[in-house]
Amino acid sequence: MKRDLDPALGQLAEAQHDQPMVRFRGVTKRYGTLTVLDELDLDIARNEKVAIIGPSGSGKSTLLRVLMTLDPLTSGMIEVDGEPLTHMRRNGGLVPANDRHVRAVRSKIGMVFQSFNLFPHMTALQNTIEAPMRTLRMSRRDAVERARELLSMVGLSNKCDHYPSQLSGGQQQRVAIARALAMRPKVMLFDEVTSALDPELCGEVLNVVRRLGAEHNLTMLMVTHQMGFAKEFADRVCFFSQGKIIEQAPPQQFFASPQHERTQQFLRAVREAT
Ligand SMILES: Nc1ncnc2c1ncn2[C@@H]1O[C@H](COP(=O)(O)OP(=O)(O)OP(=O)(O)O)[C@@H](O)[C@H]1O
Ligand SMILES: [Mg+2]
Repeated sequence: MKRDLDPALGQLAEAQHDQPMVRFRGVTKRYGTLTVLDELDLDIARNEKVAIIGPSGSGKSTLLRVLMTLDPLTSGMIEVDGEPLTHMRRNGGLVPANDRHVRAVRSKIGMVFQSFNLFPHMTALQNTIEAPMRTLRMSRRDAVERARELLSMVGLSNKCDHYPSQLSGGQQQRVAIARALAMRPKVMLFDEVTSALDPELCGEVLNVVRRLGAEHNLTMLMVTHQMGFAKEFADRVCFFSQGKIIEQAPPQQFFASPQHERTQQFLRAVREAT
C-alpha cells in the first residue's frame, strides 16, 4: 500500500503501523551459479500468519535463513518492522549496517528449526534462560521466572530440569519454541518444525504453535509440508518454485482452486503421497 507521508505525527504513526512487519524487496540469493532466491518480493503484515509451501530445493529454508541473517543476501533488501536489516539510515541515505544494528533488528525475530538445536549439556530451563541472560542482560531471577512461564505455556512445567536426551522429540521441539519466545520476538519463523517427529508427536507441537498464533501478537512465517495445518492456521499460503513465489492466496482459495499448473501438480503429488 502506498501512501503519502504527512509530517504530522499522528499520520506518521499510523503510516508506521500500516507498514509491513517484514518486507523482502528484490531479494536474490545465489550459491555460485545456482540462483536460490530470484528477485523475490514479499510483504508480511503485522500479526499475519504465512505458510510457505513448495517442492524440495525451491528456496523455502533459504528465505528464512536470510531473514535470520544466517546467510548473506546476494542482492536486494529486507526490512523488519520498518528497519532495513543489512543497512542503517544515515544522513538521509543508507549505509551498510554495523553488527550492533544487525543484532538489534534480528532480535525481533525468533526461529525454530527442524532439528531442535538445543544445547545438549543444558536442561530445558537452562536452554531457555541462556540467551535472555547473555543477550538481553536479564537477571537470572527474571530469566528463570519467564522461562518457567514459557515452559509451562508449552506444557512442560514438569520437565524444566530434564536434559534434551531425557525428552521426547516433541518435548524438545516445545523447549525450542519456549527458548525462541524467551527473547520476546515480534516475528517467529518455523522451518518444518514437525518433520523430524512421529505423527503423534506432531500434534502436540502444532497445538503449541496454534495457541501461540491465537494468544500472542506474533507475525509468523511457517515452512510446512502439512497442508492440513497450513489450511487451518495460515492467513495466506505462498507457493514457492525455483526461488520465486508463483502463487499466493488465502488458504481456502489456494487449496480449492490453485491457478498455476505447477501448484496444481504439487498439490496432486502431495495428495497422492498421503
Ligand atoms: N550453503 C549452501 N551451499 C550451496 N547450496 C546451497 C546451500 N544451502 C542451500 N543450497 C541449495 O539451495 C537450494 C534451496 O535450498 P533450501 O534449503 O532453501 O530448499 P528448501 O525449499 O527448504 O527445500 P526442502 O523442502 O528440501 O527443505 C537447494 O538446491 C540447495 O541445495
Ligand atoms: Mg528446507
